[in-house]
Amino acid sequence: MIKKCLFPVAGYGTRFLPATKAMPKEMLPIVNKPLVQYGVEEAAQAGIDSFGFVTGRGKRAIADHFDISYELEHSIKGSGKEELLTSIRKLMTKSFAFTRQNEMKGLGHAILSGYNLIGDNPFAVVLADDLCLADEGQDSVLGQMVKLYNQFRATIIAIQEVPQDEVHKYGVIAGEPMKEGLYRVTDMVEKPKNEDAPSNLAIIGRYILTPDIFDILRETKPGKNGEIQLTDALLKQAQDGCVLAYKFKGKRFDCGSIDGFVDATNHVYENYYKKGLI
Ligand code: G1P
Repeated sequence: MIKKCLFPVAGYGTRFLPATKAMPKEMLPIVNKPLVQYGVEEAAQAGIDSFGFVTGRGKRAIADHFDISYELEHSIKGSGKEELLTSIRKLMTKSFAFTRQNEMKGLGHAILSGYNLIGDNPFAVVLADDLCLADEGQDSVLGQMVKLYNQFRATIIAIQEVPQDEVHKYGVIAGEPMKEGLYRVTDMVEKPKNEDAPSNLAIIGRYILTPDIFDILRETKPGKNGEIQLTDALLKQAQDGCVLAYKFKGKRFDCGSIDGFVDATNHVYENYYKKGLI
């Protein structure tokens, strides 16, 4: 069973300056909810009830968001505005824990910093910058991945086809097709040059990881950009055992970029907010 989810949220969000000067980028709202809340709700829909955040300086607003605000509750009581808190109140029954990434040494290092929150359990990872919205009638994207994990008991990474001239922005996999939308990973490169990429199947920020990843990460040397890359550790895991890549059924918005963020806002406004779904 996957019960825990890790959110690496220590990054600075420099692309959104000055908006992110004093506010975590994960708290930027997509219509009426902060980006990180979409990720937590997606994980909750996958049956996860324990959420761990790897934070850094200036990220306290995230901890406050997932805590009860007694003053606020008191001041809006009976005002008719209480229902605006329904979505966040639903999450208050779950467990939230926080730890710090003291040095910014890459995504692999951030995951390793979360070990004390996860322990030796399989777990999910959500990169909140990637907003993933499942197709209608489907489980949440992480929910789809948890189902696959329950079947295969191996690490599962989310992938999506991207245009060949954009592959340099992602980790990219090569894989042997197993069945519709599912590959067994044979190679994986972090942010290759467009012309060197093994395919156009890009890693998206959703992972189910088996706990042996921690030992591998402890041994992983700095890679691309001098950072400890999760992609390098996953390649080792794929070579020694088995890693599956899954083309999920849904849309993904790169909310780490202004264009993706605006697209996500328009999409959520038209398809969820206006229909009264959020
Ligand atoms: C990270 C991963 C990369 C992945 C991407 C998805 O990169 O290292 O493999 O494709 O997330 O969003 P980042 O965008 O944090 O640089």
